[in-house]
Amino acid sequence: MRRPVIAGNWKMYKTQAEARAFMAKLLPLVANSQHCEIVVAPPYTALAATAEAAKGSTITVAAQNAHWEKEGAFTGEISMPMLVEAGCQGVILGHSERRHLFHETNENIAKKVRAALDNNLRPIVCVGELLHERESNLTHAILEKQFEGAFAALTADDFSRILLAYEPVWAIGTGRTATPEIAADAHRYLRELAQKRFSTEKASALRILYGGSVKPDNIKGLMAQVEIDGALVGGASLDAQSFASIVNF
Ligand code: PGA
Repeated sequence: MRRPVIAGNWKMYKTQAEARAFMAKLLPLVANSQHCEIVVAPPYTALAATAEAAKGSTITVAAQNAHWEKEGAFTGEISMPMLVEAGCQGVILGHSERRHLFHETNENIAKKVRAALDNNLRPIVCVGELLHERESNLTHAILEKQFEGAFAALTADDFSRILLAYEPVWAIGTGRTATPEIAADAHRYLRELAQKRFSTEKASALRILYGGSVKPDNIKGLMAQVEIDGALVGGASLDAQSFASIVNF
């Protein structure tokens, strides 16, 4: 049985004070939610405050990006050990906004995945196709390229420490969710890639989250698909009530 994971990606929203207020509201709403793992991914400046607020709960904190080097002359970057110190247990890597707005490459994502694992941070690695790629029947080819680009150098044991998120770019922030069937098809394909590259055992243990306009009113349908092991939620994770209803699908 794969334990579901519901993760909230706050993107560039919430100050420290807003993060504390959010956590104070969320904690009682999910205090009895044992059926899934709960992750929140605040912006860098609110990581420590959120981790502090999450202490004693089952909620874990992830960052939204990081550099692969431990330290150095990399103006504006944050390293994995810095995230650990701030109280993070995971890090989102390769989000489509990083890939498309900040030109992040598969090569750099692979280095970040390695660095995260070496620092005991769980990578939540995002893959997904653009609308024109889907319309040109390139979805599987793109997913394969992103999958291999991020994971080809890993051992099977490394791979078992990863969470994968399928986020079709055309569904992110657009209100246009992939149907549960479309998402499940992509997840099935990603699991096949995991089986080919690693093993049947690792592939069946892999948790694949769906992301892209997940809301309280569509989470049930998505989670009804056996292939879907959770959700990476953007907009609807910013409000504690709405995020809690997704957690408690
Ligand atoms: P959305 O974002 O839920 O606002 O579509 C999802 C994501 O980017 O992770």
